[in-house]
Amino acid sequence: MEKLVVTGPTRLKGEVNISGAKNAAVAILPATLLIDGICTIENLPNISDIQISCKILEALGAKITWNNKNSLTIDTRNITTTKAPLDLTRKFRASYYLIGSMLSRMGEIEVGMPGGCKLGARPIDQHIKGFELLGANVTVEKGSIYAKAEKLKGSPVYMDIVSVGATINVMLSAVLAEGTTIIDNAAKEPHIVDVANFLNTMGADIRGAGTDVIKINGVEKLKGNATYSVVPDQIEAGTFMLAAVATQGDLLLKNCITKHLESITAKILEIGGNVEDFGDSIRVWCNKRPKKANIKTLPYPGFPTDLQPQMGVVLSLAEGTSMINESIWESRFQYTEELNKMGAKITAQGKTAFFEGVEKLSGAPVYSSDLRAGAALVIAGTAAEGITEIYNLEHIDRGYENIEEKFRNIGAKIERVNE
Ligand code: UD1
Repeated sequence: MEKLVVTGPTRLKGEVNISGAKNAAVAILPATLLIDGICTIENLPNISDIQISCKILEALGAKITWNNKNSLTIDTRNITTTKAPLDLTRKFRASYYLIGSMLSRMGEIEVGMPGGCKLGARPIDQHIKGFELLGANVTVEKGSIYAKAEKLKGSPVYMDIVSVGATINVMLSAVLAEGTTIIDNAAKEPHIVDVANFLNTMGADIRGAGTDVIKINGVEKLKGNATYSVVPDQIEAGTFMLAAVATQGDLLLKNCITKHLESITAKILEIGGNVEDFGDSIRVWCNKRPKKANIKTLPYPGFPTDLQPQMGVVLSLAEGTSMINESIWESRFQYTEELNKMGAKITAQGKTAFFEGVEKLSGAPVYSSDLRAGAALVIAGTAAEGITEIYNLEHIDRGYENIEEKFRNIGAKIERVNE
């Protein structure tokens, strides 16, 4: 079993290159199934979710050539089956994007019920509602989803809740449909815009991505023959911004889009940290103990739920008592029990947690319950006095490229050890 061993405390200092966005990349790869041709995707994060996505695409008949560890060329001209490997699709959440893409391209798909982080109930009713409005038949049976359509037809789709996955999935299913689809109450996250930009580069006609109304005019074919570079990862950048504050360090994050980081910047300034914005890079530093704050997670442009655990580490160390209200996922405070083992004073009940700030955390053995909880524990271990051992690394490896190397390069004492 692998574990990360972190010896702290360390004030993180230096530069970090932010990788391509996981949540954009895991949608762009299945979106290549809409192309009857070849395309190249660059700035892919080198993480296990991408490796699994590639295995699934290859099993469907796609041919993938890696140009380097962050770039691949994919040929999707010859798709040979509509049954995706069930064991692989159950391993992560974004396998649901195969439904929208394959319905559009092949008119049929069978996938395993998507897996991913256990953050509470993760229904896909809004995805299914969208597919059905476009004319598909969808059945869910024995842990698998089966979807079929003769010919998808554009339709108005009103989302009952703001969902990143459903917005992208319905967009994928509408690209090759006959006529126009209008998604109302769409999510506005940067990766939604990125997937739309990718599809438009390949020949789709999508307008309004990044607003809450997206209009997709169906086209006959996506031509491919183009290169696309994945947007920088908003959540990885936010993770390092909060690591700088938690460790009272000084970091320059390169290759990011600072506009996507505004909700995080605002909170860092509120709690007494400093931010200098250079447009495509951002410096964050903090010379004193942060102040308390109240936070509510919200869809973009609100404070992202995927940075809530990392912010929880900062507030554990802040002066005074802070409150976080988690409005997206019902079980996203599992990490607080691990932080309490390190000396934090957090009381979590339902969707609310209170953080009575402590002056220091102390190293302890801790378990990562999900991807972002794992990142939060790495930050906590770096800020804490003594040795922190972090277990369940498979969660962290799903979404962070070279986490220990990136932390080591900015001064952290962190090793991956095989027990
Ligand atoms: C995506 C991200 C995830 C992030 C989340 C919210 C990916 C691969 N994952 O997940 O990291 O935490 O956005 O920013 O991009 N819901 C329904 N019915 C549906 C769909 C969603 O009720 O059909 C609910 C969910 O239970 C949740 C809320 O809507 O309470 C938001 O979920 P959604 O935006 O869909 O999250 P994901 O796309 O799964």
